[in-house]
Amino acid sequence: MNLLLLGRGKTGSLVAEVAAERKHRITGAGAKDNAGCAALTREKLRDIDAVIDFTTPDCVLGNIEACVQAGKNMVVGTTGWYGELDRIRGMVERHNTGFVYAPNFSVGVNLFFDAVRAAAAALRHGYSGQIFERHHVHKKDAPSGTAIAILRIVQEAGALAEAVEITSFREGEVVGLHELVLESPHDRIYLCHDAKSRRGFAEGAVLAAEWLAGKKGCYDFKDVWREL
Ligand SMILES: NC(=O)c1ccc[n+]([C@@H]2O[C@H](COP(=O)([O-])OP(=O)(O)OC[C@H]3O[C@@H](n4cnc5c(N)ncnc54)[C@H](OP(=O)(O)O)[C@@H]3O)[C@@H](O)[C@H]2O)c1
Repeated sequence: MNLLLLGRGKTGSLVAEVAAERKHRITGAGAKDNAGCAALTREKLRDIDAVIDFTTPDCVLGNIEACVQAGKNMVVGTTGWYGELDRIRGMVERHNTGFVYAPNFSVGVNLFFDAVRAAAAALRHGYSGQIFERHHVHKKDAPSGTAIAILRIVQEAGALAEAVEITSFREGEVVGLHELVLESPHDRIYLCHDAKSRRGFAEGAVLAAEWLAGKKGCYDFKDVWREL
């Protein structure tokens, strides 16, 4: 595939590595090349099969709008924009493109979501819940998109929004650690996912771009990773 990678930072640089290993042709654009979405004109996107975005919360919506309006498939790993998800979903449907997003593209975290879903039944049996997330000090959004996804799963299991709190820590170079603690007067359940490197995110994003080829519609990676 001909992939355009937006963002050549900590995660984007690994996406480029994985894409090259999987024999894709990959061009990258960083903040300078893509100021004001300059890398995303119809002309520049003409030969691109899919765009992968690991940039920042302040530019990602502009990137999404430009790519979707140009009719290009897109995989978005950047977090911090989900308040606009319904609007973007509508735009993807209107422009008949393919779009995969996720707060976390690692298969391990998506398996962890299943464990969270199963354990969250405890909230209907007198347990209280707390979510903790730790990331490196450079992370721009808090709480993390993954912590918000855990909260949604827990709420779907019947917990009131205000009954479960997310606590965010920003420390050193922590890649990403998420914990769900469920507590009753008699015992405590701990679930934890600890990312050792960013490679899992990068692999998931490239596989999602491959999966998206020829598809239309807006997909959450948690609903499609089993098909990869
Ligand atoms: N979904 C997932 O699995 C997952 C996993 C990890 C991270 N993330 C999210 O992905 C995003 C990036 O994380 P990161 O840790 O890789 O951050 P990072 O190391 O700070 O990299 C961000 C990169 O974005 C580039 N950038 C900024 N504005 C841009 C623009 N307008 N066009 C193109 N590139 C632009 C910067 O390029 P320059 O260096 O050229 O300025 C920078 O290298 C964050 O939102 C993070 O939460 C998601």
